[in-house]
Amino acid sequence: MVELTLPKNSKIQQGKTWPKPEGATNLREYRIYRWSPDDDENPRIDTYFVDMDDCGPMVLDALLWIKNKIDPTLTLRRSCREGICGSCAMNIDGSNTLACTKGCDDISGAVKVYPLPHMQVVKDLVPDLTNFYAQHASIEPWLKTVSPQPAKEWLQSHEDREKLDGLYECILCACCSTSCPSYWWNGERYLGPATLLQAYRWLIDSRDEAKGDRLDNLEDPFRLYRCHTIMNCAQTCPKGLNPAKAIAEIKKMMVERRV
Ligand code: SF4
Ligand code: SF4
Ligand code: FES
Repeated sequence: MVELTLPKNSKIQQGKTWPKPEGATNLREYRIYRWSPDDDENPRIDTYFVDMDDCGPMVLDALLWIKNKIDPTLTLRRSCREGICGSCAMNIDGSNTLACTKGCDDISGAVKVYPLPHMQVVKDLVPDLTNFYAQHASIEPWLKTVSPQPAKEWLQSHEDREKLDGLYECILCACCSTSCPSYWWNGERYLGPATLLQAYRWLIDSRDEAKGDRLDNLEDPFRLYRCHTIMNCAQTCPKGLNPAKAIAEIKKMMVERRV
């Protein structure tokens, strides 16, 4: 997994150390990034102690234990709690991953939890994904056809369907894009690995009839060509996908249509 560190000049202060739960014998320390737009203060790191005998095994379980039993103001996103919705993506122990599938026992020492890096923070562990979702919408992620609508459904061979393996599983968690240095520095203009993986998913779909338009939409020095094959994206993806490979395939399509 890729290691991410915060810029040296980040003004993050040591925050509050909350009291240990009484009577607990199996304690685990959590250091969690806290920031609220409402109190006009710098971000801080609060320290909590979780009774692991009273808590589930995943980092999300521990965060919810803290929220339910110690500090209800701790703010995070989550929904499915089984690696499907992508909403609990955050930086845990130096890597972008899903809190609901990251086991506390896989981490040694205190568990450090930050929001996804290089994103505006809404509050605590909640990043602002407005730009990320707008970029995803910009690649028009739906089937586009010009042929007459079939009576029943758009059919696809088993072989063509298999071409979507490694792409359709993406849950748009943003772990990859927020681990990509090119996206950190050019996130307004470079589409980033998650959106480009989705773009390739529609380019390679045998039923789609807008390949030319889709490639035109990506033919731009920033939208596609800022990927420098650093591979952070593939290393961090909690679903084991390889956005860098999808981006390389799009670049190949660009070359092929020129010859
Ligand atoms: S490619 Fe992986 S890391 Fe990136 S958004 Fe999809 S599931 Fe998340
Ligand atoms: S391979 Fe490309 S998209 Fe992936 S992290 Fe590197 S620059 Fe970003
Ligand atoms: S809560 Fe849905 S992926 Fe973690």
